[in-house]
Amino acid sequence: MTAEVKGVIARAKGEPVTIETILVPDAGPGEAVVSVQACGVCHTDLHYREGGISDEFPFLLGHEAAGIVEQVGAGVTSIAPGDFVVLNWRAVCGECRACRRGRPWYCFATHNATQKMTLADGTVLSPALGIGAFAEKTLVAAGQCTKVDARAKPESVGLLGCGVMAGLGAAMFTGDVGPGDSVAVFGCGGVGCAAIVGARLAGAVKVIAVDLDPRKLELARGFGATDVVDASTTDAVAAIRELTGGYGADVCIEAVGNPKVFEQAFYARDLAGTVVQVGVPTPDMRLDLPMIDFFGRGGRLAPSWYGDCLPSRDFPVLVDLYLQGRLDLDRFVSETIPLDAVEDAFHRMERGEVLRSVVVLGR
Ligand SMILES: NC(=O)c1ccc[n+]([C@@H]2O[C@H](COP(=O)([O-])OP(=O)(O)OC[C@H]3O[C@@H](n4cnc5c(N)ncnc54)[C@H](O)[C@@H]3O)[C@@H](O)[C@H]2O)c1
Ligand SMILES: [Zn+2]
Ligand SMILES: [Zn+2]
Repeated sequence: MTAEVKGVIARAKGEPVTIETILVPDAGPGEAVVSVQACGVCHTDLHYREGGISDEFPFLLGHEAAGIVEQVGAGVTSIAPGDFVVLNWRAVCGECRACRRGRPWYCFATHNATQKMTLADGTVLSPALGIGAFAEKTLVAAGQCTKVDARAKPESVGLLGCGVMAGLGAAMFTGDVGPGDSVAVFGCGGVGCAAIVGARLAGAVKVIAVDLDPRKLELARGFGATDVVDASTTDAVAAIRELTGGYGADVCIEAVGNPKVFEQAFYARDLAGTVVQVGVPTPDMRLDLPMIDFFGRGGRLAPSWYGDCLPSRDFPVLVDLYLQGRLDLDRFVSETIPLDAVEDAFHRMERGEVLRSVVVLGR
């Protein structure tokens, strides 16, 4: 039977979000209905509300979530009702060229639910990143549910569903950080701080955090940065060189989405080093670098989408590391809030006051 639940809706560009009744159909073939327990507020939700991602309003926001599978449709064998799952936006198809070549993290035919959730009057909703989890229940493709150890806290491990995974993977997978490496992370929001944690997990010995905001640099230290650089008062490139014996860092991670910061990351790396870009640019941004510097310095410039992760491979492992006390996901949760406080949380995020506000439901 179609469920009637509350959800956070962005009706029109730039307008404050509203809480509305939404209709969630029963799970059809290949789908699942998930009872959402927690969902983090990500910058991308705000981008949707601002019309920066598409103009397919109204959006059902929310996409960094964990919950309990309530119902599965025909043919679903990977999960069952009662399973504790983290939702993902990379349910790989297994059949496209990327999947067949053994690079499923580049899958270009990822699955979402086929049926639509709607407003009470039948208006079709666009769920953020194919998830839409600022709601008591949501409908997704079964492959968007990754079963993990149920002893984990939903508000912490739900964050693996987007920003934290993007940062961890930028260091561990895209940047391929290894034991003994030096790493510089530009921008210490949720994504950058996760990149710091990922660099440490991968064995980096020096992890330099760069930001303009001293509050963020303090947080970065808490996540294990060995050095911090306030780029509002210091030349970040010179500072990173000095901290790395004059060489530059092996891996520089841009977690802002700003061409000036990209340029700093480009020049702050050692010869043959890697720049990972995880910050999302806007369409008007341009890079202008002397080609001889690109050629002459060697190395790699690597964009990173969702940390090149494979949810089915990575989420259970990361949750195990969390439960063993080796990956502090609790530290990313600045506050827990009710469903009707998302708009306020956007403002706190814009003012730089939080790493993650997390909506907690049903408790
Ligand atoms: N590639 C992906 O798959 C993916 C996934 C999720 C988010 N993102 C993107 O990652 C970026 C960061 O996300 P977030 O949630 O951490 O955002 P955030 O706003 O919390 O953090 C950005 C940080 O950058 C700092 N900053 C701003 N300008 C700077 C500058 N010139 N030099 C140094 N630091 C500067 C800010 O003070 C802030 O601490 C965003 O662009 C977001 O859209 C990418
Ligand atoms: Zn595929
Ligand atoms: Zn996100």
